[in-house]
Amino acid sequence: MEKVVIFGTSAGAALSHFCLTHDSPHEVVAFTVDRSYIKEEQFCGLPVIPFEEIESIYPPHDHKMLVALLANRVNKTRAEKYHQAKAKGYELISYISSKAITWPDLVVGDNCFIGEGSICRPFLKICNDVMIMAGAFLGHDSVIKDHCFIASRATLLGAVTVEPYCCIGANATILDGVTVAGACVIGAGAVIQENTREKGVYKVGPPTLLPLPSDRLENILFRGR
Ligand SMILES: CC(C)(COP(=O)(O)OP(=O)(O)OC[C@H]1O[C@@H](n2cnc3c(N)ncnc32)[C@H](O)[C@@H]1OP(=O)(O)O)[C@@H](O)C(=O)NCCC(=O)NCCS
Repeated sequence: MEKVVIFGTSAGAALSHFCLTHDSPHEVVAFTVDRSYIKEEQFCGLPVIPFEEIESIYPPHDHKMLVALLANRVNKTRAEKYHQAKAKGYELISYISSKAITWPDLVVGDNCFIGEGSICRPFLKICNDVMIMAGAFLGHDSVIKDHCFIASRATLLGAVTVEPYCCIGANATILDGVTVAGACVIGAGAVIQENTREKGVYKVGPPTLLPLPSDRLENILFRGR
C-alpha cells in the first residue's frame, strides 16, 4: 500500500481520508497543516504534523501527499500548498472514486479528487489540483484547468473550458462551448450561457417567498396526478 499524508484538517481532509481508506490502494498515515493551524494532536485518529517539518518525519521518498483543501480564497490556499508540497519533493496523488463513471481516455493531473457519482464523459481533460465533488456532470471535450473546484451536481455540457482558479457552485450549469474565465465564482444554480468575465462572481437571486401558506396550494401541486 502506498503511504499518503493528507494536507488539511477540515472537511475536505476528513472526506479524503474516508474515501482513500475505503476506496483506494493508499494508506493515509498522517495529516499535516502549518504549525499555527494545529488545534489537536490527532485528526481522524492519526497524527497531525507541522507542515514545516513533515519531510523529516514522513519523507517524500516513501510517502505521497494529497492537498485536500476545498475552495478557500478561490482555490488560492490549496494552490499555494500544492506548490509548497511539490517543492518539498512530494508526489501528489489523485483520487478517482470507483463509483464515478469514467472512460479509458480520461486525462487527470495530480492532486485531483473526483467524487462518487461524477460522470466524466469521453474526451475530457482534468488538469492539476482540481476538486470535483459528488455527482458532477463533466461533458465531452471539456477542459478543466488547474486549481479549480467543481461542486456537487454542477453540470458542464459539451466542450466547456474552465480556466484556472474557478469555483463552480452546486447545480450550476455551463452551456456547450462556453469558456469560464479565470478565477470566476459561479454561484449555486446559475446557468451560464456565454463566456464569463475574469474574476466574475455570478450569483442567482433568492427564490421568491409567496404571500400565501402552502395549504393554499393543496389543489395546485401535482396537477394531473
Ligand atoms: C455566489 C455565492 C458565492 C455568493 O456568496 P454569498 O455569500 O451568497 O454572497 P453575498 O450575497 O453575501 O455577497 C457577497 C458579497 O457581494 C456583495 N454583493 C452582493 N450583491 C451585490 C450587488 N448586487 N452589487 C454589489 N455587491 C454585491 C455583498 O455585499 C457581499 O459583500 P460583503 O461580503 O463585502 O458584504 C454563493 O451564493 C454561492 O452560490 N456559493 C456556492 C455554494 C456551493 O455551491 N457550494 C458547494 C459546496 S460543495
